[in-house]
Amino acid sequence: EKCGYASFMLKEIAEQPKAVADTLLGRIDGSGTLSLDEVRIPPGVLREVDKVVVVACGTAFHAGLIAKYAIEHWTRIPCEVELASEFRYRDPILDQQTLVVAISQSGETMDTLMALRHAREQGARVLAICNTNGSTIPRESDAVLYTHAGPEVAVASTKAFLTQLVACYLVALYLGQVRGTKYGDEIGDVVRDLSGISGAVERVLGTMDPVRQLARSLAHKNTVLFLGRHVGHPVALEGALKLKELAYMHAEGFAAGELKHGPIALIEEDLPVVVVVPSPRGRSVLHDKIVSNIQEIRARGARTIVIAEEGDEAVVPYADHLVRIPATPTLLQPLVATVPLQVFACELATARGNEVDQPRNLAKSVTVE
Ligand code: M6R
Repeated sequence: EKCGYASFMLKEIAEQPKAVADTLLGRIDGSGTLSLDEVRIPPGVLREVDKVVVVACGTAFHAGLIAKYAIEHWTRIPCEVELASEFRYRDPILDQQTLVVAISQSGETMDTLMALRHAREQGARVLAICNTNGSTIPRESDAVLYTHAGPEVAVASTKAFLTQLVACYLVALYLGQVRGTKYGDEIGDVVRDLSGISGAVERVLGTMDPVRQLARSLAHKNTVLFLGRHVGHPVALEGALKLKELAYMHAEGFAAGELKHGPIALIEEDLPVVVVVPSPRGRSVLHDKIVSNIQEIRARGARTIVIAEEGDEAVVPYADHLVRIPATPTLLQPLVATVPLQVFACELATARGNEVDQPRNLAKSVTVE
């Protein structure tokens, strides 16, 4: 069933363009309007929502962190994101106007399930974003938006993550559409951009040979750091998580702006640092700040691995290794920026002789708290 791939993980990485396209299928009409009737929460109720709380674990939590940017930008509803395992233990403030979004590939993660039960007990509505039909989390939620990634076998989540992002964008845009926010015009444009994103993921996959080669050359390292800003920060966290679980290496993701508040002390000669660079268009202030960060760490000896948009020339002088990704609107960049990090972790783990589909100590679905 690996269809000629050396691992399920490689197969699932390769399936991402289709998974993304399938998750969009039938949810956007020709005029760029979202039709999410399957989300059976009446528009009237969605108009009353005054807070969104996302709960999830691991990779799904990283999708939630990215969802916050999209939800707050397109809907102007405050959004919190919390690790499901922490949520109910701090007596969170919830009521009927709170929309809780529970994200889970398996739909069986106990931490996420307990968080949603707690939310419903407090009167909140729960919308599940889930990849597994009929699993417990969607069954116990008020509504569900399924991701259409197909079965994910490898323990490390890849295609499910990309489709969780798509689902999060759809929820954010739908909330914006229902509530008629001032970003109405932008929403139409983003919906069009989303329709082209599967092709962009495909293009990234076609350019991964140098990333594989780089990963193999770093197999003897002990530590890799990941930096990002804005939606690139959760992407950095995800890149680090993939490397931890597959390569059993010390890997940490930071918000690049935090470097000077501590982590820069970690930089030493030849330390690999992956930097996810925001688009030079959109949020160009952040772009310029991160270019300065790359300069700073390189001056201290770091080996910089820079993931930047095609056409971004400002990064070229400071990149020891440059990975190009297609230009996308800022909020959608994680869909293309994450892919090289998945390939990087998979290849590095393989070079270290690790079993990528079944990393040590981990299970595909974590059904204990
Ligand atoms: O099935 P879920 O999405 O609820 O699983 C959540 C996490 O356990 C999962 O994402 C885990 O972090 C993956 N192994 C990451 O690759």
